[in-house]
Amino acid sequence: MSGPELGVCYYPEHWDRAQWSEDARAMVDLGLSWVRIGEFSWALVESRRGQFDWEWLDTAVETLGAAGLRIMLCTPTAAPPRWLIADHPEVLPVGVDGRVRDFGSRRHYCLSSDVYLGHAKRIARHFAERYGQNPYVRAWQIDNEIGDHDTAISYSQAALFGFQVWLRRRYLEIDALNVAWGTVFWGQRYEDFSDIGLPIGTVAEPNPAHAFDFRCYSSERIALFLGTQAEIVRAHSPGRPVLHNFMAGSYDFDHHRSMGEVDETGFDSYPLGNLVHGSLPEHEKSRWLRTGSPDYQGFHCDLYRRDGYGSGGRLWILEQQPGPVNWARHNPSPADGAVRLWTWIAYAHGADAVLFFRWRQAPFGPEQFHTGLHRSDGTPDQAFGEISRIVDERQGIPATERSPAPVAMILDYPSRWAQAILPQGQGYCGEEITAAWYRAIRNLGIEVDVVGPSVDISSYELILVPDMLVDNVEFVDRMCRHDAHLVLGPRCGSLTPGMRTPEGGAPGSFRKLVNLTVERVESLPDGHEEYVELEGETFRAGGWREHVTTGDRVIGRFTGGFRPGSPAIVENDRVIYLTTLAGLSCLEKVLAKAAKRAGIASYPISEGLRVTYRGQLGFAFNFSNENVDIPERPGQRFLIGGCRLGPIDMAVWTQT
Ligand code: GAL
Repeated sequence: MSGPELGVCYYPEHWDRAQWSEDARAMVDLGLSWVRIGEFSWALVESRRGQFDWEWLDTAVETLGAAGLRIMLCTPTAAPPRWLIADHPEVLPVGVDGRVRDFGSRRHYCLSSDVYLGHAKRIARHFAERYGQNPYVRAWQIDNEIGDHDTAISYSQAALFGFQVWLRRRYLEIDALNVAWGTVFWGQRYEDFSDIGLPIGTVAEPNPAHAFDFRCYSSERIALFLGTQAEIVRAHSPGRPVLHNFMAGSYDFDHHRSMGEVDETGFDSYPLGNLVHGSLPEHEKSRWLRTGSPDYQGFHCDLYRRDGYGSGGRLWILEQQPGPVNWARHNPSPADGAVRLWTWIAYAHGADAVLFFRWRQAPFGPEQFHTGLHRSDGTPDQAFGEISRIVDERQGIPATERSPAPVAMILDYPSRWAQAILPQGQGYCGEEITAAWYRAIRNLGIEVDVVGPSVDISSYELILVPDMLVDNVEFVDRMCRHDAHLVLGPRCGSLTPGMRTPEGGAPGSFRKLVNLTVERVESLPDGHEEYVELEGETFRAGGWREHVTTGDRVIGRFTGGFRPGSPAIVENDRVIYLTTLAGLSCLEKVLAKAAKRAGIASYPISEGLRVTYRGQLGFAFNFSNENVDIPERPGQRFLIGGCRLGPIDMAVWTQT
C-alpha cells in the first residue's frame, strides 16, 4: 500500500480532555497516521514567565501517540503569551501605517526583535528538551506560516536598528550607500547610518534602493528566525525532520532561502481561499470557484518540492482545506470530490503526506465558520467521507517517486519586491504572469520544477524565466556555460540588485544570451489589447510592451495601429525573448516551440484536465463539470478509474 500518508491538525487544548482518546481512536480508525499539535500553545504551557504546566501537553502527546499516531509537534512561537507582551511591549510588530499591531489575535511579534528571538529560542529549547526524544514525536514544525497577516515586514524600532546595522555591514561607508542608492536624487543624502529611517511614511514614494534593501534585510531576519529555532530542535531531537508550513501565494520573503533552513518542506494548501484572495481575473475565479484553479496544487508542490534543491527530503501539505474556510472575501464550498482531487494531485506532484486542517470545527473563536473533518457537534463533514475513500483507494497503489522534470521555471522573490517597489504600471503582476506561464506549459502536458535562480540547472533541458526583473550576473553566467534552451519574459534583467538601470539598459547581463536592447517600455491599461503575429497566426497580448532593437531573428511582430511590424518575439538558437505579456494561446505556441527545440515532447490537453506522473504511475484529474476522455496508452493498466473521467473525478494507472 502506498499513496499519501494522511494526518490532521488537532488542538487538544480546545476540547475537554475526556474527548482526546476518543478523537485519537477515531483518527486512527479513519486511516490517519499523523497529527500536528501545539503551534498556538505557548500561553497554556508557560502561563507566567518560567512557570510551566506540561501536564496537559504530556497527556495529549501520550494519548495521541499511544493510539498509534505519529506526532508533529510545533514550536509555539506564532502566538506569544500576554505576559511576554506586557513585559516586552517592544516585541510587537508595527504596520505599514506606522502603528503598533497589538496583542489579541496571533503573530503579534516583530521578526527583527532580538528580545523576541531570545524568547523564541528559550521556548523552542524547552519544547525540544522535553519532547525531543519522545517516541511519539516524529517531526517538528517551527512557528506557523511566517508572514501570514502581513507580518513578514514590520516597521518597529528593532527593525530600524537592525536595518541600520545591516546597512553598515553591507556598505561600510555612508558615502558608498549614498552612491549605491542614488541619494543625490531629490537630495536624500545621508551623513551617517544612524540617520537612515524605514521606508514608510514618506510624502511620495521612497527611494527604491532603500525600500528594496529593507525587503532584503527583512527576508534575512526570517531565515534567521527559522534557522535558529531549527538548530535548537535538531540538537535535541535527532532523526526527526524539522519543517515549516510555508504559506502558498506569499512572496514577501525569499522562500527559497528560508527553505534552506529546514530539513523537509511543507506548505498550507487552501485552493479556494487562495483563489478568491488571489490575482486571477474574475471570470477565472468564477470558473474554478468550487475546485480552485487546476494548477494551484501542482504549482505549489512543484515549488516546495525539494528536487530542485538537491537535498531530497519529503514534501508535506501541512494544512489542507477541508471545506469552506472563513477568511477570504467569499468562502464557497468545494465541489463534492474536490478534497479527494486535491489530496491525490498533491501526491501525484510529490507530496508524501497531507494533513487536513482541522479535525473538528471550533464552536468558539475567530475561525468558527472554518470547516473541519467534523462539524463542531462531532458529526462527520464532507472531507471525512472523501478521506475514507482515499484510504480505500490507496490500498492498490504501489510506492513510487517522481522523476526530475525536464523544465525549470524560475521564481525569483527579489524580483517580486522590485515589481512592487518600481511598478511602472499596475497591470504587471508577477504572480499572474508566472501562473500563466505555468498553465501554458502544463496545458502542453510538460512537467516542471519551480525553482530559485541559484538552483543547479545542469539537468534541465529548458528554462523558463517569466518575470526575473532583478539582473543576476551569476545566474546568467551559469546559463552561458550550460546548453539548456531558454524562454525569457519581458523586463528580464531590467534592474540591478541595487535597483538601478543596468549599464546599457535592459536586459542587463541577459544580453550575453540574447542580442537585444530595450529602448522604451510602456504599461497598458486592462482591457487594451495589443496583437502579435507569429508564424501566420495573430495572438492577443497586452499589459506591457517593450520597444527593442535586436540583431537576433524577429519571429513575432506587433500588428495594429501603433508601430506595426516592431519586434514582439525574438529568438536565436537557444533563447526566445518576449517583449510583451503574451496571452495564453501565444504562450502555449512559444513554449511548445521552445520545448520542441529542447527535445521535450508535448501532449496538449484541455485546461480542466491535468495529467502528471509519479514514477511509473500516471494520474489524470478532471476539474471540469463535463466528462473528459483521456487518451488510451499502450500498456496502461488502471488502478483507479478509467479512460472516461466524470466531473471532478480522477484516474490512476500504471504503464508497462
Ligand atoms: C492558516 C493558519 C491556520 C488557520 C488556517 C485557517 O493560514 O496557518 O492556523 O488559521 O489558516 O484556514
